[in-house]
Amino acid sequence: MIKSMGITKENWEQCIMLNPNKMGKVNVVNKFVDSVAYSLVWGFMEGLTARAIYDDEILVGFTMYGFCEEVSDYKIYSVLIDKNHQGKGYGRRVLEHLINDIKKIPGCNDIYLTFNPENLRAKGLYESLGFKNTGKKFRLPELVRKDIYGEEYDDKNDEYLYSLNIR
Ligand SMILES: CC(C)(COP(=O)(O)OP(=O)(O)OC[C@H]1O[C@@H](n2cnc3c(N)ncnc32)[C@H](O)[C@@H]1OP(=O)(O)O)[C@@H](O)C(=O)NCCC(=O)NCCS
Repeated sequence: MIKSMGITKENWEQCIMLNPNKMGKVNVVNKFVDSVAYSLVWGFMEGLTARAIYDDEILVGFTMYGFCEEVSDYKIYSVLIDKNHQGKGYGRRVLEHLINDIKKIPGCNDIYLTFNPENLRAKGLYESLGFKNTGKKFRLPELVRKDIYGEEYDDKNDEYLYSLNIR
């Protein structure tokens, strides 16, 4: 019997992995950053704050942040500058604005973020803003890991967890 069910915390990841193509991957997540579609659904489910980044009238990127239960503090979940606008200083400015905004949130002591170990540009940018390696690794959800790496994934694909103390 056919039935329909709502999109919930338990099923939304499986839902967006539905693939009408016989071959190929869904690629809802890239190696270095979640797609905006993925982020938006995640943000909706977790009550995160998503922001489109404009330069005057031009959309240049996307960011999302919010409280993360895993680290018991605030986390920047996504920073994505469109490929046509990378290397122009937007990433740095967006992060500086975000840090200032998050600092105003009562009870927030540290800002967390994660990134792929091979993403050296992001690493340099985050470290230059004062983020430090916590030494902990962040393991991507299983479906996401499979979408990016196929079945061939191991510990080296786990993301670094960095934090910035703001008090
Ligand atoms: C990573 C990212 C957010 C950086 O934003 P950006 O607008 O491209 O970067 P900026 O122009 O602000 O430059 C930030 C720093 O990176 C360095 N940088 C810029 N382009 C670079 C490049 N092609 N290679 C290496 N370093 C580079 C700059 O030197 C700059 O440092 P500086 O201010 O000391 O000179 C952006 O490139 C991006 O969205 N990349 C794809 C998605 C991604 O990786 N997001 C982060 C996931 S954790």
